[in-house]
Amino acid sequence: MSVRIAKSAGFCFGVSRAVELVEQAAGSGKKVATLGPIIHNRHVVDKFRTLGVGVIDRPDQARPGQTVIIRSHGVSRNVYERLEKQGVEIIDATCPFVKRIHGIVSRAEEEGKLPVIIGTPTHPEVEGIAGWCSHCEVFAGPEELENWAKSQNNLKNSSICMVSQTTSTESLWKSCGKIAKKEFTNLKIFDTICRATEYRQSEAAELSEVCQSMVVVGDPKSSNTGRLAMICREHCDKVFLVDNASDLKAEDFCGVTDVGITAGASTPAWIIKE
Ligand code: F3S
Repeated sequence: MSVRIAKSAGFCFGVSRAVELVEQAAGSGKKVATLGPIIHNRHVVDKFRTLGVGVIDRPDQARPGQTVIIRSHGVSRNVYERLEKQGVEIIDATCPFVKRIHGIVSRAEEEGKLPVIIGTPTHPEVEGIAGWCSHCEVFAGPEELENWAKSQNNLKNSSICMVSQTTSTESLWKSCGKIAKKEFTNLKIFDTICRATEYRQSEAAELSEVCQSMVVVGDPKSSNTGRLAMICREHCDKVFLVDNASDLKAEDFCGVTDVGITAGASTPAWIIKE
């Protein structure tokens, strides 16, 4: 049986960097905690727990002298301030692509523009971005953006700065851009989508077209992993969404000659290769 592993399977640049920063901090003997689970993968979080890395949910749970690591999704300006008040060392593992968006919205507001964010309002990355300006608007998609734009006659000529959550899809972003260009005359658009997700999805689609079976490795609760499995199912009848190798049985692959493997951005290489 031939097994092909997608080149894009597993950690993206930002997640890989965050995990390395936790490893370095844990290895240096510091009292380390991450603000929220460092990534959505219980194997990695469990491994770090055995190395003494704790997880806190809120800045006020940090203790003086502790080292607190901010995960790749990033956080609002207010969270940094609250952590500083706690007297902790901060290690910032915010993905540089997300950090760039913090800078864009914060500068836009200083210049008198209204920041508009396209993304899931309750996603931690979007909450973090919104927290770098005192007032912004967040829209999940083109419909919400259009309804709002049509109800804002007084904003037609105002300066608007539009950015996207890094994991938005290209088609959603393009539709929002079209609407914004039609509705606002003074508009600056920054395409802040991270292509890592898009590349992973198109590679999964290509692989699932030529394989009899696909294995998607990742947290079954992660929406990105679920989306990968959905894309594979569009081209392949036999798709398994698994947390690790023990979820698979040899009989699942009876008569299968080609298997493709892909994995979400939070899946470490050792689980993919298992
Ligand atoms: Fe960063 Fe893109 Fe990954 S924004 S965390 S490299 S998906």
